[in-house]
Amino acid sequence: MELDKDRLDTFIRLFSGSGSELIRSIREKAMADNVPVIRDEMAGFMRFMMRTLRPQSILEIGTAVGYSGIVMLESAPGAKLTTIENYDKRIPQAKANFEAAGYSERVELLEGDAGEWLKKLSGEYDVIFLDAAKGQYINWLPDILRLLKSGGVLITDNVLQDGDTLQSRYAIRHRDRTIHARMREFLKSLYETPGLISCVINVGDGAALSVKE
Ligand SMILES: C[S@@+](CC[C@H](N)C(=O)[O-])C[C@H]1O[C@@H](n2cnc3c(N)ncnc32)[C@H](O)[C@@H]1O
Repeated sequence: MELDKDRLDTFIRLFSGSGSELIRSIREKAMADNVPVIRDEMAGFMRFMMRTLRPQSILEIGTAVGYSGIVMLESAPGAKLTTIENYDKRIPQAKANFEAAGYSERVELLEGDAGEWLKKLSGEYDVIFLDAAKGQYINWLPDILRLLKSGGVLITDNVLQDGDTLQSRYAIRHRDRTIHARMREFLKSLYETPGLISCVINVGDGAALSVKE
């Protein structure tokens, strides 16, 4: 029997939980404003990961309005979040949402280009959540791996690109071919980097999980 992806996602969502009331309201507003945030089933997965990994330090690339950051902090007691966003309009909304969640003290929001910040950062992170400009992942990977603690986990969202990543280059629209090639190159690098163990899971739009030995 062929697997219906929409049906699968709906089914998984049933078991994903919905988080706090604040989380739901941030998500609803983000949807209404066309702000791309992690899907419900990915949020459920992130909650599970945070409870399992119990990180103390999290680096997020792609804050948007703070939704996934708050999802992670809710499930990772004591964790500090460093999160990077370059879109001026979203930064004040993210700050207001972190404040409303009571997490301002636990969050450092770095304003500006992630590529620039990644070069400057020197901390070590238990978890890195990568969810920004997909075409840049391959360029950011060396700095991300430098910043990931030994035993730390990199979680990369949207690696399946609604199924495009699986397709041959020729089945992809011309304008999407660069991102298609870069995402494949990024996944190949994850698998080929010595000392990194990676897998791709079919949750939401596909997530790559990588643990650094
Ligand atoms: C998919 S959204 C992040 C959603 C967020 N993680 C969530 O689920 O709540 C990606 C965000 O990355 C930001 N972004 C894209 N390229 C960036 C860059 N080079 N530096 C910093 N932020 C970037 C975008 O402005 C956007 O808000």
